[in-house]
Amino acid sequence: MNVLVVGSGGREHALCWALARSEVVDAVAAAPGNDGIAEVAACLPLEAALGGIETFDLVVIGPEAQLVDGLADELRGAGPRVFGPSRAAARLEGSKAWMKEVCARAGVPTARYATFGAGEEAAALAWLDTLPGTYVVKTDGLAAGKGVLVTDSLPEAREAVRAYLSGAAFGDAGRRIVVEEGLSGPELSLLVLCDGSPEGVPLAPARDHKRLGDGDTGPNTGGMGAFSPVPGVDDVLVGEVMERIVAPTLRTLAADGIPYQGVLYAGLMLTAEGPKLLEYNVRFGDPECQVVVPRLAGDLAVHCAEAAEGRLRTPVRFRPEACVTVVLASEGYPGAPRPGARIEGIEEAVAQPGVVVFHAGTRRDGDVWRTAGGRVLDVTATGATLEEARRRAYDAVDRIRWPGMQYRHDIGAAP
Ligand code: AMP
Ligand code: GLY
Repeated sequence: MNVLVVGSGGREHALCWALARSEVVDAVAAAPGNDGIAEVAACLPLEAALGGIETFDLVVIGPEAQLVDGLADELRGAGPRVFGPSRAAARLEGSKAWMKEVCARAGVPTARYATFGAGEEAAALAWLDTLPGTYVVKTDGLAAGKGVLVTDSLPEAREAVRAYLSGAAFGDAGRRIVVEEGLSGPELSLLVLCDGSPEGVPLAPARDHKRLGDGDTGPNTGGMGAFSPVPGVDDVLVGEVMERIVAPTLRTLAADGIPYQGVLYAGLMLTAEGPKLLEYNVRFGDPECQVVVPRLAGDLAVHCAEAAEGRLRTPVRFRPEACVTVVLASEGYPGAPRPGARIEGIEEAVAQPGVVVFHAGTRRDGDVWRTAGGRVLDVTATGATLEEARRRAYDAVDRIRWPGMQYRHDIGAAP
């Protein structure tokens, strides 16, 4: 089968890498891909790929923006099987207010919340006063992972409400907001394969580290690293999340005439009162994908094709090995990253045992690799234990350098 992966980050590199190893795949293309992905897939502009869409048997859509815009609907019926939710289903990520409303109807445990639109600033500020301790202000719409403020400071939360609702902070994405109570506890990412039926199949649990600095300090980022499996998260807990959170959501959507096909990412907090849903994403997590996919014992292409066909039937199994990925980011990330730095040592890093390096934002300049974005490389390692995977990942990280390179030193440590 010929497979097309839409997207250009580390997540898509991991997907292409796994699909290229599949026994049922003849060729993998990525649109637009990146120079690192070009080592395992034929990269071409998105318009060119869409122009020849009938030549693909399976399309896997990586990024949320295109799903929310309805790319899956556009491609379904054009020939290939499409792995990715419809525009209607992708609203779970595209509108946090709608997601909360679906969850409320489904009886899914989430943070206590209220939504506010333009002209409702006074009501939003009054609602903030009723929340205990930690305040969370979120844009309703997509904001490239930056639309969530979590703070213990009431003045800061009030300021965010004003800046979001006025459009000053995130334009139209912020003119509608969800204001909710802060929850506390360890986080968990559970990616669930869905074939349109209300029965999802959970992938291996993962945890990502969202803050820039060691010890969860500094600004929120798109994720500075991830690991899988997660100590303390067993099949019983995964079963509970499926039963209390994911299945009721899929059933409620189905009852609304919105079957969910693709991967549903449940962002959870393991609170003292049990797991609660923080957010849904309608795609593989980045960097969670980079640690979940390498642990798959089966064939990713088979699972994606079956989900896209509407009938998952091959059991999804994972290797017992652990996987850790460390994100290497540019100077200035997550604010204003400075690209163009010369990267040294990638070849040495990938020669280490159990290591693969996924490219998130690089550019090949003759024989030289250069940084081409905020998140640059995902240095990924498997090992018999989390500790071994972690040691291998950092041994590989130690071989890579460029001026201003940033990374966390505690990915997968004391998780
Ligand atoms: P989101 O953009 O919804 O994925 O949220 C990004 C991050 O904000 C989550 O991974 C959490 O770390 C944090 N967050 C979101 N909602 C809450 C909440 N109600 N309480 C505490 N932290 C939250
Ligand atoms: N790892 C967080 C995300 O993919 O949104």
